[in-house]
Amino acid sequence: MKKVYVGMSADLIHTGHLNIIKEAGKYGEVIVGVLTDKAIVSYKRLPFLSTEERKTIVENIKGVSEVVLQETLDYVPNLKKIKPDYVVHGDDWRTGPQRETRERVIKTLDKWGGKLIEPKYTPGISSTKLNWEVRERGTTPGIRMQVLRRLLASKGLIRIMEAHNGLTGLIVEKTRIETRSSSKEFDGMWLSSLTDSVSKGKPDIGFVDLTSRMNTINSILEVTTKPIIYDGDSGGLPEHFKFMVKTLEREGISAVIIEDKIGAKKNSLFGTDVKQTQDSIENFCIKIKAGIDARVTEEFMIIARVESLILKAGMEDALERAEAYIKAGADGIMIHSKEKTADEILEFCSKYKKITNNVPLVVVPSTYSHITEEELEKAGVRIAIYANQLLRSAYPSMVRTAETILETGRAQESDEFCISIKDILTLIPGSK
Ligand code: SPV
Ligand code: MG
Repeated sequence: MKKVYVGMSADLIHTGHLNIIKEAGKYGEVIVGVLTDKAIVSYKRLPFLSTEERKTIVENIKGVSEVVLQETLDYVPNLKKIKPDYVVHGDDWRTGPQRETRERVIKTLDKWGGKLIEPKYTPGISSTKLNWEVRERGTTPGIRMQVLRRLLASKGLIRIMEAHNGLTGLIVEKTRIETRSSSKEFDGMWLSSLTDSVSKGKPDIGFVDLTSRMNTINSILEVTTKPIIYDGDSGGLPEHFKFMVKTLEREGISAVIIEDKIGAKKNSLFGTDVKQTQDSIENFCIKIKAGIDARVTEEFMIIARVESLILKAGMEDALERAEAYIKAGADGIMIHSKEKTADEILEFCSKYKKITNNVPLVVVPSTYSHITEEELEKAGVRIAIYANQLLRSAYPSMVRTAETILETGRAQESDEFCISIKDILTLIPGSK
């Protein structure tokens, strides 16, 4: 019996997949390589179903003899192991991000006289289209919450962007660019205290309370499916933090980040220009533990934010605190800096690696914005948060428009800064 290898993501199974399997069966016994989450996120969005779920589904499809996992987008490692006589794949991968993968398949098969068979792409069915339709349909709190943990298990650097209302939520949900070999999106949203407060015309001093921030969250939850990380400021008293955890977890938020400060809240980026007091290690660990005791599932993450570099308490203090917070049960550590260069952050990262049992590291490159995602990933960072850029970019444009109308006494000159009337009318699906 000849061996036929079929690689597939198998997220939303449709008749196109079944056609490929049927076609493959004509050449021999069908071995399906199910791409793992890790393989898929290397070039596109995390699938809806987990690797295990997708594997189980494919194992139960008629005509499939064996299912193996394909750990990379590249077929070559599995092909070398299995040495199939044929690989079957829809002809749609001749163009687009999978082009190079295809070339490597042909070259590898050549080594033992294997052949690539490319049945015509099934017309009228597209995984990409189905994917968008599922996203439009929405998600549930439980499914959304798990996505951050799944990303941590499968992706190098996780890219998070702030959102402060439904519209910015939609921008984070939908913005996508195609590169030569992949498509790139944001992985999730940051519910920033700064942008949530400022967009309500309020200072970032903890005045916009949880109830009001839940209104923002609800607007975002209604129109998006991606995971959300909530900026919990200091989390308040341990007794209050418990309720915050329960509220957020119930709504399907994936993580809360709390900072180790006490007293009147001031934005960290003021640094030592304003009075900001750091909590004692002991007290902050009590708060972390209170949060952990309050959560219902382990999927919900409690991330501790170390403010030592902001408050000029030194690198040693930052590391000592990170270690203590991990011991107290923190699921992640965020290290913040307001320096213009990334030197102190990178020094922290390299020392942090040596802490045993360390947990995912989060950074917010607002002032040291020159740093690239590639550099952060190399330094061991797992989550990068773009904490305020959507609001910061919208504000100057709005002020310019307002000033232009005042200057000219009419609206025409401001049109060039504006989205067209036609486009704003249809920006949100379902407007017509
Ligand atoms: C926020 O976005 O509200 C943050 C990050 O907490 S920072 O503004 O840099 O403190
Ligand atoms: Mg904040």
